[in-house]
Amino acid sequence: MVQAMNSIAIIVLAAGKGTRMRSAAPKVLHRAAGRSLLGHVLTAAAALSPVRAIVVNGPGQADVADEALAHFPAASIVTQKERLGTGHAVSIALPALKKFSGTVMVLYGDTPLLSVETLQGLAAQVNAKTPFAVLGFEAANPTGYGRLLRNAAGSLTGIREELDASKKEKAIRLCNSGVIALDAGLLAKLLPLVGNKNAKGEYYLTDLVALAVKAKKRVALSVCPEAEVLGVNTRAQLAEVEAHFQQRLRARAMEGGATLVAPETVYFCADTVVGCDVVIEPDVVFGPKVVIGDNVQIRAFSHIEGAKIAAGATIGPFARLRPGADIAADAHIGNFVEIKKSRVEKGAKVNHLSYIGDARVGAKANIGAGTITCNYDGFAKHVTDIGAGAFIGSNSSLVAPVRIGDGAYVGSGSVITKDVPDNALALERGTQTIREGWAARFRALRQAVKAKI
Ligand code: UD1
Ligand code: CA
Repeated sequence: MVQAMNSIAIIVLAAGKGTRMRSAAPKVLHRAAGRSLLGHVLTAAAALSPVRAIVVNGPGQADVADEALAHFPAASIVTQKERLGTGHAVSIALPALKKFSGTVMVLYGDTPLLSVETLQGLAAQVNAKTPFAVLGFEAANPTGYGRLLRNAAGSLTGIREELDASKKEKAIRLCNSGVIALDAGLLAKLLPLVGNKNAKGEYYLTDLVALAVKAKKRVALSVCPEAEVLGVNTRAQLAEVEAHFQQRLRARAMEGGATLVAPETVYFCADTVVGCDVVIEPDVVFGPKVVIGDNVQIRAFSHIEGAKIAAGATIGPFARLRPGADIAADAHIGNFVEIKKSRVEKGAKVNHLSYIGDARVGAKANIGAGTITCNYDGFAKHVTDIGAGAFIGSNSSLVAPVRIGDGAYVGSGSVITKDVPDNALALERGTQTIREGWAARFRALRQAVKAKI
């Protein structure tokens, strides 16, 4: 019989300042793969469809609260005024769980690599017979972690923090990840029993295991790969976590049918969506919110963020797509082209050295080399609207707000300040003059002067 899973509430502890990061920003707001550490934890936790989420921040950390709400709008934020330990942090979150019955999962905000599968596996261990489950891992180097203590039968009996551990206990490599899941009623019953008589003088959440065993409750153990529980305490660990994310994201893109010519040089964001038969050349960087359709080519040295790229489009080499770039099917964006908040419609071409901002480029329009939309007057941004099939000659400036009609031509080098009707030619430049033989006469004159010196 398939048992329905208990409803889940999550508590994320994020009150730490992260002193070792040497940063003005709270640790959990530092980013890996374009997303805050807290955002990663909340994204994984959200996949469990928790009915409640409580984030514990520290005093003065309104930015942590904002980030939590951005990822989990229904979250409750609780501020821990004094940092008295992980057990204390959970105890101040408890009032927000009044009337909740089900499984409470506690997560740390600085452990961003946990997979949804691992969290689901842990939650699934909790049932009426086994009301408590701990996520552990085999540490290559256990120093600094809490050690998982087991009896002869292999059942968990407690967790010993590094500073309180005996020499024998320190030799244990099975460690506490920090993630636990337990019955809400049991948590409420045991938490007040946690004391602070230990080396740090803190209320340790980890003491719950021994208390549960004492109360004759079974505590299950789930073990996950160490890479999933890598915590971030330093900038070096942040870089390590970034590397793990990139490895995962590159693998995910390739499994999804994209060719990465040199995967180790492509940097994704956690939310990058990559289609099928996409080719990504070396040295491409993706910022947040990029969606790439099928059969897109992204050529080398491109930087892309906040952009939508539809099927069959070609981007780069050396292209920059900024937020709001909306590139339709089969469009071409070439080298040294910057596109911001603009829609480039089907089959349009912007191939060389252009800035297109706050614009629409109509289907099949051709934007010549060096064309610039002059969208900003120092105070406000203005729109340039380029019709379908229009042809903009090279080195033109389109001074917004301005509209170029469907099928219109703009002569090269023009500075366009007035609307151009459909199918018209707009030309705005000095009249060319020709002086026959002038260059030859000029050279002869200069050479004669030089010969005399
Ligand atoms: C904790 C565990 C340890 C485990 C390790 C895994 C305890 C007592 N120990 O140790 O068994 O192996 O994580 O990385 O839980 N926090 C608060 N308020 C507090 C204290 C901590 O919000 O008063 C938050 C921190 O911001 C952090 C998390 O809780 O996100 C863990 O705290 P930390 O001090 O880093 O615990 P560790 O010593 O690493
Ligand atoms: Ca830690």
